[in-house]
Amino acid sequence: MISVLAPPSRAIGVPHERLDGKEKVSGRACYAADTPAERLAYGVFALANIPRGRIAQLDVGRAEHAAGVLRIFTHENMPRLNPVSSPPAGQSLLPLQSDRIAYEGQPIALAVAATLEQAAHAASLVRAEYEREPFNVDFRTQLERAVEGQSFFESDTRVGDVERELAQAPIRIAQRYRTADRHHCAMEPSATVARWENGSLTLDDATQYVWGVRMAVAQALDIAPERVRVRSSYAGGGFGSKGYVWPHQVLTAAAARELERPLKVVLTRAQAFTAHGYQTASEQALDIGAERDGTLRAVRATSINPTSRFDDYVEYCALSARSLYAAPAIETRHRVVHVDRSTPTPMRAPHDGVAMVGLEIAMDELAYEAGIDSLELRLRNYAQRDPTTGKPFSSKELRACYRLAAERFGWSGRNPRPGAMREGRVRIGWGMATALMGTFRMPASARVTVESDGRVLIEAGTQEIGTGVRTIMPQIAADVLGVPIEQVRIALGDTTLPETGGTFGSSTTMSVGSAVLDAATRLRDELRELGAHEDEDLGAVLSRSGRTSLSADGAWSPGEEGDFSMHTFGAVFAEVRVDEDLPIPRVSRVVGAYSAGRIINPTTARSQIQGGMVWGIGQALLEESSMDPTLGRYLSKNLAGYLVPANADVPELEVIFAEEVDAHASPLGAKGIGELGAVGVAPAIANAVFHATGVRVRELPIRLEMLLA
Ligand code: MOS
Repeated sequence: MISVLAPPSRAIGVPHERLDGKEKVSGRACYAADTPAERLAYGVFALANIPRGRIAQLDVGRAEHAAGVLRIFTHENMPRLNPVSSPPAGQSLLPLQSDRIAYEGQPIALAVAATLEQAAHAASLVRAEYEREPFNVDFRTQLERAVEGQSFFESDTRVGDVERELAQAPIRIAQRYRTADRHHCAMEPSATVARWENGSLTLDDATQYVWGVRMAVAQALDIAPERVRVRSSYAGGGFGSKGYVWPHQVLTAAAARELERPLKVVLTRAQAFTAHGYQTASEQALDIGAERDGTLRAVRATSINPTSRFDDYVEYCALSARSLYAAPAIETRHRVVHVDRSTPTPMRAPHDGVAMVGLEIAMDELAYEAGIDSLELRLRNYAQRDPTTGKPFSSKELRACYRLAAERFGWSGRNPRPGAMREGRVRIGWGMATALMGTFRMPASARVTVESDGRVLIEAGTQEIGTGVRTIMPQIAADVLGVPIEQVRIALGDTTLPETGGTFGSSTTMSVGSAVLDAATRLRDELRELGAHEDEDLGAVLSRSGRTSLSADGAWSPGEEGDFSMHTFGAVFAEVRVDEDLPIPRVSRVVGAYSAGRIINPTTARSQIQGGMVWGIGQALLEESSMDPTLGRYLSKNLAGYLVPANADVPELEVIFAEEVDAHASPLGAKGIGELGAVGVAPAIANAVFHATGVRVRELPIRLEMLLA
């Protein structure tokens, strides 16, 4: 029996396995590159191997005559395309439009052939001669050239008299902190299949934002957006790399139009290092002044990051300092250095995830300097209101997080003296850090339909990038309509469905979920008007009223919830073990407690946070996209040289959610969790390494040689 008057919260808040789990593990889930098409052609890019200059001569003769080749597109024969505004474009420079080379890895040709192997072979035969120009890919050698970048937050903020407070503060921590360039390394490299029919385009694309792709491609190709349909059924991770629209998507669509044939382009792992953005390295300067009891008097945070010559991308690495700790004076400042590289882009836990590295190591330094427990220091500087804007927080259960995680971890048993805790030759370190992540909300719409058999269909154009959308949205509709969640399915990832925002900024549960909540509530009201009563099958209600289906449209957009400072929070505790002779830090335990609004599905939520913690371990110990400054290219464009944590690097990860409903963030009471878990872990590990070894590490990733010093 199915009830339309069910008690509230029958499905929301209940752990539930992924509804799409079987489809994925059985290989039935269809990803962009799996899209079948008649007469499908394959495209492979040939890339420039210099970082700056112009193409003097391009020899495509051998490539054109290779077996199976249909066309070699270059800047000489690719039609001129319109520039695309950014965002949705991740990079304003569109390759194959001129002879200019502005970064190593920039496409110089797109070889199209009847098979993938033939296209790859043809691409390898393209020969270019360049007029080389002087270049610099290393922003750290030219920090004095840092300038203000145009982006979406304020560059600089200031409250109070930082100069005076710092001068009068009895304790001062003034240090520089560094994080490395990193890459998303989604398991599924970006892929696009473009098909034209009667002047209309269908793109099956690995994207986090189907409407963004539609907007960018329509603009570039000078056609009405209505003529572009973009679908993204499944994506094997995105983490930001598929959030904006990159040249390969636009060029694939343009080439397919020229060829009058469907065209597929799948990036190789190596190409993914330059085909879409990366997370920039950061140079963070923290200057903190405090009383002897640890009370903050001033925080000055400045950050510099690299960006391309042609675009401003600001990684806001001083952002967290604006909101996290109460201090009478706070100053933040962001600058960029233009270098000869591709344009960076957000990557999982952008801004705060990088910013908290500097701030939270600096706070640990302050705790030691003042002789105060690291957790106690955070509590002494707990912000009741946003210290920069003065606004109240929409919700904040950070105190509960500190308590829950500290208890679970056993923090009170810590001997604070560095090197004091050990097991034989192994030094044990315990460190902690706070996590804070911005809340991003987007307008969304959705439709919910009851079909004649009583099954429920949710339609929303949103994307599933692995976060659990295909399970969470059915839970919300099931909850409202009082049906089992197995009876609810969702159609998503398609611009023909009700419009939503991108699956980024940890925004989907809040934004799309609120639209689904609205549609399902309207549908429930309509069913009640049809005389539906408790324990009545929804299909029976329809047939009694002579209908085959009943739909309701819903929508939600942020903005009418008052003026709040809106964030998610967490407290992260980490244990590391470091051998005294061969000091390779191994993370042996992480406990995190989180304040992230109402948790819709504890199973998928926990998995999101654990995934984020694994990212944090990578950020602390492994991940770095090093460049060769003389060649201007990445040293290793592969997963052998770019290290991410393997199972053996990942210990038990404990996740606790503080009880919380944020009614200001969304009608669901939910906030975002997709990125929060990736924040705070790396500084907690760095602080644990200090506790174990007495070596203060201010640069990530932490390497063996730093600890030998
Ligand atoms: Mo996330 S970096 O907003 O996809």
